[in-house]
Amino acid sequence: MSEKVTSRLAGFHKLPFAERLNQIGRMFRLTPEELEIARGEGSLAPEIADRMIENAIGTFSLPLGLGLNLTVNGRDYIVPMAVEEPSVVAAVSFAAKIVREAGGFIAEADDSMMIGQVQVTRYGDPTVASQRLQAAKDQILALANSFQPQLLRRGGGARDIEVRVLPAPEGPRGEPIMIIHVIMDTQEAMGANLINTVAEGIAPLIEQITGGKVYCRILSNLADRRLARAVCNIPVPLLADFDLSGEEIGQGIAQASRFAQADPYRAATHNKGVMNGVDAVAIATGQDWRAIEAGAHAFACREGQYRPLSTWHLEDGCLVGRIELPLALGTVGGPIKIHPGVQLGLKILRISTVRELAMVFASVGLAQNFAALRALGSVGIQKGHMALHARCVAVTAGARGDWVEKIAELLVQAGHVKVDKARELMATLSAKDSEAATGTG
Ligand code: MEV
Repeated sequence: MSEKVTSRLAGFHKLPFAERLNQIGRMFRLTPEELEIARGEGSLAPEIADRMIENAIGTFSLPLGLGLNLTVNGRDYIVPMAVEEPSVVAAVSFAAKIVREAGGFIAEADDSMMIGQVQVTRYGDPTVASQRLQAAKDQILALANSFQPQLLRRGGGARDIEVRVLPAPEGPRGEPIMIIHVIMDTQEAMGANLINTVAEGIAPLIEQITGGKVYCRILSNLADRRLARAVCNIPVPLLADFDLSGEEIGQGIAQASRFAQADPYRAATHNKGVMNGVDAVAIATGQDWRAIEAGAHAFACREGQYRPLSTWHLEDGCLVGRIELPLALGTVGGPIKIHPGVQLGLKILRISTVRELAMVFASVGLAQNFAALRALGSVGIQKGHMALHARCVAVTAGARGDWVEKIAELLVQAGHVKVDKARELMATLSAKDSEAATGTG
């Protein structure tokens, strides 16, 4: 669909479940089958599940929500998010709404450069082996490309060979670790299979050139040639909330950012907040979220200390947020063409290229982080979180329909958001209802 879509759907969260889906169905001209898929009823068929993994016995569902209000590089995106944690979707939508008022996110993403690693051992003199490998670079690249003719036709392929010699983990008496990196442009694919085929394919040539023995050959999930970046610039007055000035809230966010920059214990939680958003979109769009997680955290350690993936500071009356992280994503391969839920997610997201997808991911991560720090630096997260968590508790206690909101509200008022309390409140409410019905009150 090429026409413009707005991600600003005022009052969407207040609609009943079925009406929300109908609205999205109309907006994206979803077929009856796609509506079924969104509801979870027509999603992953057992026969497909059986082809995807071994020992399959069924499928497993998660709630699918829509992150709203997102604007990236002047374009609106409605973001499919599969996640079990309450408040993630609300938080990203809220944050994106503020950033939208400030002009939206500006994002960019690198080309799809992935790294394949080949470890060679028993190669003799490291300087001689490295020189031989360097001299044979063109031959190795040509062989690498011979394994991926289709990728080559699409404009991708092997771009470079690097030789790395690392100190032996046992100390100077051990053989230094020699690694050959093959850098490949995997275009629209995440690239794990492409890279692994190439790494395995060039291994015999590496052995021949060095006279050594290759053991391990595999892609690296530290995809630091494939980074995405997003920034936002929020005028301080837009931050005012909770009876606090924009300046005060901005200070809280900037201080939380400094905390994460200085302290890995905090940085881990800060990045968990970023990944709350990134993982949820990753699952809904069929990405390898373990690869994304591994890459993000390894990248966060690149300076020798674990650091936040995003930072915030006040500058010229604005709160400036930035994020940078590796995003090895794909719009082809993996479950993308076979999982109906993923196809639906991508239809709603309306991205055309993998780089555009990465820019949306980075912006979602930054939005999620903004929402968390805004609460942490002011009133705390428990207030908002508990209100949403209370709904889950009410459902666990057996509440359905209108009762979910009613019980959730009472739980929050009581300051005791627990299943036993919810059951107690339900018993009191139903006793009152039956008294009213029989006129015995
Ligand atoms: C909870 O899922 C995520 C947060 O802990 C993130 C953060 O502390 O920045 C709220």
